[in-house]
Amino acid sequence: MTTAHSTPKPIPAPAGSTDPLQLIDVDHVRLYVGNAKQAAYFYAHTFGFHISQLADLTTGSRDEADYLLTQGNIRLMLTTSLTKGHPAAEEIKLYGDGVKDVAFTVHDAVKAYEQAIRNGGKSAKEPRVIEDERGAVTVASIHTYGRCIHTFVSRTGHYALPNVKKGAEFMPVFKKIDSPVNAHNAAHPCGLKYVDHLVGNVEEGKMNYWVQWYEDVMGFKMFKHFDDKDISTEYSALMSKVMSSGNNLIKMPINEPAAGKKKSQIQEYLDWHDNTPGVQHLALRTDDELHSVAELRRRGVDFLSLPDTYYDVVWDRVEKTLREHGHDTVKEDHKRIKDLGILVDADDEGYLLQLFTKPLQDRPTLFFEIICRRGSQSFGKGNFKALFEALELEQERRGQPELPSNDLGRLHEMNQALGLTVTQTTPTAPPEWITAIPPASGWPARSRSGCSSPGWSAGRRRASTKASGSTSSRRSSSARLLSPSRSA
Ligand code: FE2
Repeated sequence: MTTAHSTPKPIPAPAGSTDPLQLIDVDHVRLYVGNAKQAAYFYAHTFGFHISQLADLTTGSRDEADYLLTQGNIRLMLTTSLTKGHPAAEEIKLYGDGVKDVAFTVHDAVKAYEQAIRNGGKSAKEPRVIEDERGAVTVASIHTYGRCIHTFVSRTGHYALPNVKKGAEFMPVFKKIDSPVNAHNAAHPCGLKYVDHLVGNVEEGKMNYWVQWYEDVMGFKMFKHFDDKDISTEYSALMSKVMSSGNNLIKMPINEPAAGKKKSQIQEYLDWHDNTPGVQHLALRTDDELHSVAELRRRGVDFLSLPDTYYDVVWDRVEKTLREHGHDTVKEDHKRIKDLGILVDADDEGYLLQLFTKPLQDRPTLFFEIICRRGSQSFGKGNFKALFEALELEQERRGQPELPSNDLGRLHEMNQALGLTVTQTTPTAPPEWITAIPPASGWPARSRSGCSSPGWSAGRRRASTKASGSTSSRRSSSARLLSPSRSA
């Protein structure tokens, strides 16, 4: 038997569908940002998005500026306020940059909205139509957790989604723009295809409330369920349930913090998010994890780092699972996976490759995941502990209370319980094949020790600190033992 390498595609509703909430696509994900013009360049340069369209003062938008960034079937809308009364101004003050809206394309936005309201949803914006002689876009929004919303979008004529995917204007008021970075991104694609899943953090005790909400209001179903036995370390834990739209178009795991000896990463998110639920991460799908991660590292994307010890045990675990379920082995080169610091996990359906960025802004809130599925439809459960441990390491660096020294022995025990061989690791320079990638013509050269791969230079800094024997060295040692890595 061979591993299925394709992923089931969402099944669009037939034209005459009686289910108004049958989702056709993720229309766009809107982020509120402090400065959309500058944020657009960050996401374009580091993640390879095209800066495609703009709505601002020059197009008649008087209260906000919107930049549409595109890559594959991903549409990010960066929105900033132009007036103090705009909701983005208030929310950026409270939360910093983050996701405001996960918008879904539907056949009829008014019917979808009305059905969601009948199902118990709360209105955020009543239906309105934006149209001109070329077509119309109808939008209507409901509240979900925190101050996030879901907007239902239906499109006709020039603004129909197939046309937008080919480059047509997003809606009236938008104009196409070009940027020098677009040509570079076309020549050096990062290979990100679409939003695989989108994770929300809610308050302790509220996960089941929102699970029920997605079932009742949106018609979603439970896809996976993890509890604190699956996703915990000795220091923090979470519980997570994965909700999926009826046609499996989009999966939305919902996390809540669970009790641990140290502040949960979920609780830390909430602390820095004005104790308000919100989107923790977007998982972006690629068909070639190694290419995508190599290109993103070359561009300076800051990924969480893994200890070498992770790879001492991962292959036995993954290959054993694949064998047990009759699947082919991991086809990607194992050494390159290790060199790139990519996580691997397997289940009864196949395997997946994934890697998590550090927070995309100064607050430890929103981050991205880069994921490639080779049959597996799960979320890297086997990596959850490693992920948590990595995030805990990041928490320490941000000034969370230091682990008591007498807990260092427990860290040893934890690693042994995980089957990790605890060894003194020597940080290494990035492999030559990464640093040897020349910058494209027209781009400034990056220094080897600079932003070409921040994780590696961070590793070298940790090593020198470790040798000092100071308090910080003790923290560094515990981090390395705990090790690291990644998020889920
Ligand atoms: Fe994820």
